[in-house]
Amino acid sequence: MREIIGRLAETHSLTVEEYEALIEGRNDEYAGLLRKLAVRVRREIYGDAVYVRGLIEVSNICRNDCYYCGIRRSNANCERYRLTDDEIYACCDEGYGLGFRTFVLQGGEDSYFDDEILGGIVRGIKSRHPDCAVTLSMGERSYDSYEFLRECGADRYLLRHETADPEHYARLHPPAMSWDNRMKCLEELRSLGYQVGCGFMVGSPYQTVRNLAEDLKLVETFRPDMCGIGPFIPHKDTPFRDFPAGTVELTCYLLSIIRLIHPAVLLPATTALGTVDPVGRERGIMAGANVVMPNLSPVNVRKKYELYDNKICTGEESAQCRECLSERMRKIGYEVVVGRGDFAGNDTPHDRV
Ligand code: SAM
Ligand code: FES
Repeated sequence: MREIIGRLAETHSLTVEEYEALIEGRNDEYAGLLRKLAVRVRREIYGDAVYVRGLIEVSNICRNDCYYCGIRRSNANCERYRLTDDEIYACCDEGYGLGFRTFVLQGGEDSYFDDEILGGIVRGIKSRHPDCAVTLSMGERSYDSYEFLRECGADRYLLRHETADPEHYARLHPPAMSWDNRMKCLEELRSLGYQVGCGFMVGSPYQTVRNLAEDLKLVETFRPDMCGIGPFIPHKDTPFRDFPAGTVELTCYLLSIIRLIHPAVLLPATTALGTVDPVGRERGIMAGANVVMPNLSPVNVRKKYELYDNKICTGEESAQCRECLSERMRKIGYEVVVGRGDFAGNDTPHDRV
């Protein structure tokens, strides 16, 4: 195992079988070693900087019915909302004042946000704050739509692949959704010059160690600019309500491995990680993550964007959320930095920094 870990740090590549062995055979000693190597390589590229992205949850209306997701179409107990353009701009203005230079617009696949509306909002944010990056996380759209939004000024797009195994994908989503289309979207986003983020849940129902090994191989071959991973957490009004949550331990172990696979990747310590463990985000950073995403959504909608049970940060004002995370990072020796926080890699042809 030590040989495999050493080779991973050296070559940034393993076979699927080796990734599998690394996950299967994990223990405290190997986790410690991976953490040490991951932190070292991240420090060489990013120092002790932790980047912030302001998350704005623009709508919880969704035409999809993902089995794991609390805002899925079939959840009749979900109280629906949609922010107006002005509310979104107000979130950005407040965020700008708090030092944010990246805004992430995330939401369900809400058909209200067609190209004209969403493109207009992207343009509006870019004209108010030309020095900021706009990231979209609005699900699967057509090539033309992604192209138009890019022309309107969107810089980055987050679309988790959810699982690298098409059969596993089919157990997490209704038949109307397909793994092939998800991968097609990711390829199209990249071809359009977006900085692209993929990712997956750790401990999602029916996930095997082999699946996770394939996820790692996908990160190795696709080389996303960002990679969002966090534990699956059940939501009481979904078909997966009785499945157990993923663990902080395995999530952190995988964060370290991903940092070694792709040293320059932007890797968030997610809200889900902070939900399964009060110091989960700190543990994520100490395992190799380098991004946090404080919530900038209006406080009155936060509880409604409930992807999973007991989601944290739903009661605080944006300024409190920002301050809380800065303080948490300071306590473990890291500094939250102001700035766009672009991908710092220069080892792949699609880098644009
Ligand atoms: N609609 C967009 C999309 O599908 O990409 C963005 C919103 S979607 C809610 C964002 C991510 O939340 C998903 O990619 C999924 O990985 C994560 N998520 C949803 N339900 C979750 C759960 N129960 N536990 C942990 N993460 C979850
Ligand atoms: Fe649409 Fe979760 S099912 S955002």
